[in-house]
Amino acid sequence: MSTVEPRDLKPVWEQLGRQYADDGRMNLGFPGATDITYEDLAHLWSGSLLNNIGSPYDGGHGRNHTKDLEVQIVNMVADIVGAPASRWGYVTDGATEGTEHALLDARRRFPDAVIYASAAGHYMLGELAEKLMMPLVVIGVDDGGGIDVADLAGELARRRDRAAVIVAVAGTTMTEAVDDVPAIVAACDRLSITRRRIHVDAALSGLPLALVPVDGVPRVDFSVRGVTSTVVSGHKFLSTLEPCGVLVYRDQPLAAAAGRVSYTGTASVTLAGSRSGHTTLKLYKSLAGLGTEAHRSRVRACRDTAAYACERLRRIGVDAQRHPHAFTVFFPPPPPELTQRWVVPADDRCAHLICMPQVTRSDVDRFVADWQALVGRRRGLLGARRPAMAAT
Ligand SMILES: Cc1ncc(COP(=O)(O)O)c(C=O)c1O
Repeated sequence: MSTVEPRDLKPVWEQLGRQYADDGRMNLGFPGATDITYEDLAHLWSGSLLNNIGSPYDGGHGRNHTKDLEVQIVNMVADIVGAPASRWGYVTDGATEGTEHALLDARRRFPDAVIYASAAGHYMLGELAEKLMMPLVVIGVDDGGGIDVADLAGELARRRDRAAVIVAVAGTTMTEAVDDVPAIVAACDRLSITRRRIHVDAALSGLPLALVPVDGVPRVDFSVRGVTSTVVSGHKFLSTLEPCGVLVYRDQPLAAAAGRVSYTGTASVTLAGSRSGHTTLKLYKSLAGLGTEAHRSRVRACRDTAAYACERLRRIGVDAQRHPHAFTVFFPPPPPELTQRWVVPADDRCAHLICMPQVTRSDVDRFVADWQALVGRRRGLLGARRPAMAAT
């Protein structure tokens, strides 16, 4: 067996620190906020294992957990998204885990349930459907990038005898479009589909939209009758700096009735076994430490920067677009030289930048200036290659 000799890791940490700082300055494309930091929690970082194993609602045998704070976090998020007192939830390792929990709950209630989600839904949905062995019907998107409710109604009508679990999206990955959840509920009502669950994947936009609603953008929270669960990512708007999420149900899921496991002394109600208690500390600082008014200001600042970015890009001739609530500005794929320099995800139709709180107007200016310079260089090259005009 080979052995690992201890080594001096200081240079490794220093190099990584420099690398992440440099990368951070060029990352405009992924929606992770980094403006809230956690130096004040450093003393809790080392020296204790914090494990929120099992249900947040009972401590279990171990005492080294942060479940009291976890329940407060669930309640804070539930209050923001308007969940009633019957709410239930927990801190997940991301929005994807929350959606999986909701899908599993739907399947337990209705073994014949069919999942419906738009083509602009998150790429992990296909994997989740496969893993849970549930059929997935992919619905088209409308002109605004949200689920095409007429198409959805047609697909629901074809399977009226089957239960439906509809995964609506609040903030599609590429354009941050929002599905019209009230219209989805109305479509189910019209078709008398009562064996149904409506889960809102609100990974990025759920909190911003609930904190600062925008006229004309449909509500996606629990004020919409019929929404049964929602999930938000913690590492997106809340700046936890590590992947996590908060799942909230309107009423207890079936899993909540699970009995206690004798070894842990707590019910196994989550998808994971052991869960980080440190993540909860960060969520608690972000939510309770700042308070909702500060988060509202963060939402407004992001939207302002996004409006600025959209305008700046248009001024250099880029067909940039943005939904009125969105932090995201999307546009046709830029030249590859630009996406090699900047972290800006692109598919064959569209690319985007996302104005999270740490993204400043001067970051936008640098990006726009780079794009403009590239276009200028290309024009120059084209001009140089063009054959000289014949003299008349
Ligand atoms: C619409 C949507 N849902 C889910 C996710 C995944 O969230 P998480 O990384 O918290 O699992 C994303 C991530 O980009 C997303 O855009």
